[in-house]
Amino acid sequence: VLYLLAPIKMDPEMDSQLKIGFIGAGNMAYGIAKGILSGNVLPANVKVSAPSSRNFGRFQELGITVTHSNIEVVCGSDVLFVAVKPHLVQLVLSEISQHVTDRHIIVSVAAGVTLATLEELLPENSVAIRLMPNLPCVVQEGALLFARGSHAKQEDGALLRSLLHRCGLVEEGPEAWIDIHTGLSGSGVAFVYLFAEALAEGAVKMGMPSALAHSIASQTVLGAGRLLRDSGKHPAQLRSEVCTPGGTTIYGLHTLEQGGVRASTMSAVESATERARELGRKATAGSRK
Ligand SMILES: NC(=O)c1ccc[n+]([C@@H]2O[C@H](COP(=O)([O-])OP(=O)(O)OC[C@H]3O[C@@H](n4cnc5c(N)ncnc54)[C@H](OP(=O)(O)O)[C@@H]3O)[C@@H](O)[C@H]2O)c1
Repeated sequence: VLYLLAPIKMDPEMDSQLKIGFIGAGNMAYGIAKGILSGNVLPANVKVSAPSSRNFGRFQELGITVTHSNIEVVCGSDVLFVAVKPHLVQLVLSEISQHVTDRHIIVSVAAGVTLATLEELLPENSVAIRLMPNLPCVVQEGALLFARGSHAKQEDGALLRSLLHRCGLVEEGPEAWIDIHTGLSGSGVAFVYLFAEALAEGAVKMGMPSALAHSIASQTVLGAGRLLRDSGKHPAQLRSEVCTPGGTTIYGLHTLEQGGVRASTMSAVESATERARELGRKATAGSRK
């Protein structure tokens, strides 16, 4: 509970002076970089590295410096995001490790790579944070959960929250919640897409043109999500407000319940969480080989 109640303290002065590095120039690095720049960080203070130039264009459009040298990024940054695929984390950390100092905050977004593994691959006493974002970060509506390593202080977490506040919702929790967050929100995005697709297909079945049905379905998901978040009400309460006795919605909801949508959605979060745990165990075993 303490985690969830922690206030977000913004420090614009501090953010504008921070130097931010990204190792990896993929989708996740881009989504986070975009969010960070719509806060108080200046593009001149951000650098990104990757082996090829193929992903550099969109970073350059944001005014971010690009390089092929990971070490150049480490040496020029205070907060370093490690945004490569999980199987490359070991390679990258062993390459940069001797340049990491106690002034760095290392933030890994790699799925399944635990804080214990990060701390083992980094110099002793390094400040490591494990962050799990989701894809809507690219439109600044992400849901991000982070867990602090054993040498990361509360201030380090507060600084990360301040940096990321424009990426979407940012929460802190124990590391055990990261895999649950992956099932709920990382994979949850795809569950919502499946539901949106099915809504549209229902309308097509009833005779609406496909393009119109899909645009109305996506607006319905967006509107329902915003109302749920902004009202702060429990979903059951909002649902009951839409249900006129004997009306259309309660008939439709009855059909959904008969199809077991509630139980299968809960099971989907459960199996995605279990799979994240399993992949994490494999990644940890791999890094110890
Ligand atoms: N995508 C998601 O929804 C999501 C959600 C949560 C967490 N994550 C995590 O985010 C991480 C990145 O995912 P992504 O989707 O952004 O992957 P991605 O689009 O494939 O990007 C990976 C980036 O890493 C770069 N790279 C490869 N080897 C490197 C090296 N030795 N040194 C420096 N950079 C190197 C690649 O370089 P090139 O540009 O030259 O190919 C590429 O820019 C993963 O660990 C994933 O688990 C992703």
